[in-house]
Amino acid sequence: MARDKTRFVCQACGTVHPKWQGRCEGCGEWNTLAEEAPAPRGPGPAAKAGGGRRVEFVGLKGESAPPPRIPTGIAELDRVLGGGLVAASAVLVGGDPGIGKSTILLQAAARVASAGRRVLYVSGEEAVEQVRLRAARLGLTESPMALAAATALRDIVASLEQETDAALVVIDSIQTVWLDALDSAPGTVAQVRACAAELIRLAKARGFAIVLVGHVTKEGTLAGPRVLEHMVDATLYFEGDRGHQFRILRAVKNRFGATDEIGVFEMTGTGLVEVANPSALFLAERRGNVSGSAVFAGIEGTRPVLVEVQALLSPSSGGTPRRQVVGWDSGRLSMLLAVLEARCGMSLGQNDVYLNIAGGLRIAEPAADLAVAAALVSAATDRPTDAEAVYFGEVGLSGEVRQVAQFESRLREAAKLGFTAATLPRRIARGARPAAPPPGMSLSETGHLADLVA
Ligand code: TYD
Ligand code: MG
Repeated sequence: MARDKTRFVCQACGTVHPKWQGRCEGCGEWNTLAEEAPAPRGPGPAAKAGGGRRVEFVGLKGESAPPPRIPTGIAELDRVLGGGLVAASAVLVGGDPGIGKSTILLQAAARVASAGRRVLYVSGEEAVEQVRLRAARLGLTESPMALAAATALRDIVASLEQETDAALVVIDSIQTVWLDALDSAPGTVAQVRACAAELIRLAKARGFAIVLVGHVTKEGTLAGPRVLEHMVDATLYFEGDRGHQFRILRAVKNRFGATDEIGVFEMTGTGLVEVANPSALFLAERRGNVSGSAVFAGIEGTRPVLVEVQALLSPSSGGTPRRQVVGWDSGRLSMLLAVLEARCGMSLGQNDVYLNIAGGLRIAEPAADLAVAAALVSAATDRPTDAEAVYFGEVGLSGEVRQVAQFESRLREAAKLGFTAATLPRRIARGARPAAPPPGMSLSETGHLADLVA
């Protein structure tokens, strides 16, 4: 039977293959298959044991207190978590190597410990001396947190089981932890999954919050740990460019708070510092009155954020024109270019197009369409957009500008930063609940992309 044989599991997506092959059938990645021991046969342990107790079903009404929270004392991190760490919950923190995961967690762990709670930091990547050096650099040596270097799951679990009042446990990183009962190497899907399941089970049983650090591979998935996302209560990704000093912490899943919430940090010589006003930061280097630039009033999670969209067109030197995008979706750019050509009569096809979201933020909102279109039109006509205006609105395939949510907070943020005009969808300007602009702000409505071109 096939299940008796060893199997080959893709380390990127977890797809199981009966025999080795160069390319994964599930995700199409090359060289990601690794041999793993077979899955156990027969009925699972629950069915074998038999005689379970009756589960009690209850109604929807009832007393439910909000979950107890452990504030980390870092406001940007607490916001992304939805108000602090939740006791007996598991959080996965993912990101590229060197982005600052260990730094922020050390900072958070030290603060929680200084607030009088028991905090354990298990480092599998660095020796105790290295972590101490980092703590000294961050000015955290006075914090009473407990530190250990360990990678064997058995040892870690045995130690945690003796802890009576642990509030927070950090495992840095889950890829270094291994269970000797498994044949697979540390960092493989099987190891990562088994070790995380055991640690999470322990956290729920003992009531402490556990934070698992996971590295992202070059393909942008957590190495193996993508398979962890469904096991944890919250997944946070650290984004940003190592060359830039800004770091963005984004919640992609959160059972106890809003997703897409972001926290903005700046990496300094003494660790990560919170950025309280990201809009001001993202617009700090903007130069008014240049063509190819438009300010987008976006929403990240529950917070409005203004960013500058930059576009550059240059005549293509033959062959297929280039489309280079940083911080936005390249498929969406192609769509907008096609709409501008087909519905507004602009011919951009022979140009190389470069698009950049300044400041290193990655935008996923369709509401950015109008700002991107404005930047493209401005670049094509070499006429600057109004430097005092912000843009937002989704663009459909026939060129219509569609309404987007939360226009009031977008306008308020724009007014706060001194903008005096906004170009926005007609439905918002004239809708059943028309936008009451903040004092001193004029609204200019667009029903179709052609209005913008005109
Ligand atoms: P680190 O937290 O070790 O990243 P990760 O755990 O995600 O791999 O961050 C490492 C980088 O941060 C490293 O390149 C040095 C830099 N750094 C600073 O700039 N300032 C600091 O105070 C610290 C501790 C690190
Ligand atoms: Mg690290």
